[in-house]
Amino acid sequence: MDSGSVLSPTVNTPSLPLIEVKDLRVTFNLEEREAHAVRDVSFTIPQGKTVGLVGESGCGKSMTGLSLLKLIPVPGRISHGQILYYSSDATLPPTDLVALPQNGETIRSIRGAQIAMIFQEPMSALTPVYTIGQQIGEMVMLHRKMNKADARHVSIEMLTRVGIPAPEQRVNEYPHQLSGGMRQRAVIAMALSCNPRMLIADEPTTALDVTVQAQILDLMRELQQELGMSILIVSHDLGVIADLAEEMIVMYAGRVVEQGTAEQLFYSPQHPYTQGLLRSAPVLGSKHSGKLYSIPGTVPRLTSTAQGCPFRPRCPEAFDKCAELPPLFVKSDGQSVRCWARIETLQ
Ligand SMILES: Nc1ncnc2c1ncn2[C@@H]1O[C@H](COP(=O)(O)OP(=O)(O)O)[C@@H](O)[C@H]1O
Ligand SMILES: [Mg+2]
Repeated sequence: MDSGSVLSPTVNTPSLPLIEVKDLRVTFNLEEREAHAVRDVSFTIPQGKTVGLVGESGCGKSMTGLSLLKLIPVPGRISHGQILYYSSDATLPPTDLVALPQNGETIRSIRGAQIAMIFQEPMSALTPVYTIGQQIGEMVMLHRKMNKADARHVSIEMLTRVGIPAPEQRVNEYPHQLSGGMRQRAVIAMALSCNPRMLIADEPTTALDVTVQAQILDLMRELQQELGMSILIVSHDLGVIADLAEEMIVMYAGRVVEQGTAEQLFYSPQHPYTQGLLRSAPVLGSKHSGKLYSIPGTVPRLTSTAQGCPFRPRCPEAFDKCAELPPLFVKSDGQSVRCWARIETLQ
């Protein structure tokens, strides 16, 4: 979709940045040496837009998402880079989240209230011993300073909004009383209950069956258009999120290997890895039951010391130049690709 397209209502609005990630590096101290789970990653999340982050398991997607909330698990840490967070007041300078104290007041006021995150497994976000209403209510009372009665009202309103039937009854139920799809809806309701400016959705549909997966993605699209928030949607499945995201980032072995609009990546993928991911993506709603293609080989281990393009051992187009790490090459249409085979032909 080029910048002149009017297909989406958000396309023509000026895209001020909400988050600018610059040269982000996440490091683990493993086996007495440093290993980088995220390597010099840069991208922008514009206000009110959906950005998709894809790559196979182990490529650094979750660590990138968790960095935005400074929630990297120990022994990991952000070892380099900036994460600039722009406030809704455009006259104020952005805050560098990396520079903030780990659990200080500022980052705690951002987590949940301004940037909310939902995870792959809905049960991990819900406590089994409290009702759905108590859990949403707690978020609202904490961040929006509401009393119990108002918080209950908001909980019911949020459950209604995410399409949970009989919300007055469901609000009093415990997580185990809900189906997987309804639990994920409840988690989304909880994440959105404080009107965040941004939602990070890390594999939000992976645990769900295909029909429910499509419903949850539709719901996220509706809510994004209604509430105008930014979304970073993380998935190993390019096919699932290309439809929801406007901008896409493909990660491999901790690095960005391709970046562009969803349309560019879906219809004209440049990197052999992106092409492989597309071929291995199941088509939503398709009746095709044949065996899916899978990219041969595996993602390199975090401790790998191999030099050059990390995709080289699995790449059908690898040649001698690939012994050197390719730079991220930006094409004239804005799409970027980290692949010598493309750089040679595009230049
Ligand atoms: N607690 C940890 N200790 C050591 N390595 C970790 C830890 N958490 C994640 N990693 C490593 O960081 C890399 C990136 O992980 P992650 O961001 O979770 O990948 P993705 O979300 O793309 O599947 C992986 O190689 C993973 O093994
Ligand atoms: Mg992950």
